[in-house]
Amino acid sequence: MSFERIFLVGFMGSGKSTVGKLLADSLGYEFVDTDLLIEQREGMKIGEIFERFSEEYFRKLELATLKDLLGRSRIVVGTGGGLGANPHAMDLMKEKGLVVWLDVPFDVFLQRCAEDPNRPLLKMGLEKLEELYTKRMEVYSKAHVRLDATREPQELVNQLLQILR
Ligand code: S3P
Repeated sequence: MSFERIFLVGFMGSGKSTVGKLLADSLGYEFVDTDLLIEQREGMKIGEIFERFSEEYFRKLELATLKDLLGRSRIVVGTGGGLGANPHAMDLMKEKGLVVWLDVPFDVFLQRCAEDPNRPLLKMGLEKLEELYTKRMEVYSKAHVRLDATREPQELVNQLLQILR
């Protein structure tokens, strides 16, 4: 199977950036993290974009950023947790490449991310976060491939390389 574009989706803390970089290196592909690209383009951290503008503004930016990347080839894209949970974005990614869901349990997400000041959604509180997590699973689960994100990043990359071979 050959894919020109691989999209990694999943909740915060699922390891999309770590796995994405390793995978891109193994394939000789470019790696792009949508959050980092947005931060570079806007000259601001994600937290600041949420504060100075709004979440809605950020959501528009991330969809536009994804659309810009759909035309590139030999690319691994690490998406923000909300982008892969957007049904329209999911459809676009599935049309253009292989979509891989890094499925992280809620408690593991908390262990990995609880203290991160640049993840504004953490401010919403535990109950709301868990609701969001449950709701997002419905969209993430439309991905072509599901991987257990509690595994070591290199192991996940090896699994993907086998699928892609
Ligand atoms: C978000 C996840 C973040 C970032 C933003 C919003 C979300 O990306 O895009 O803080 O809605 O889940 P990561 O999934 O890389 O943490």
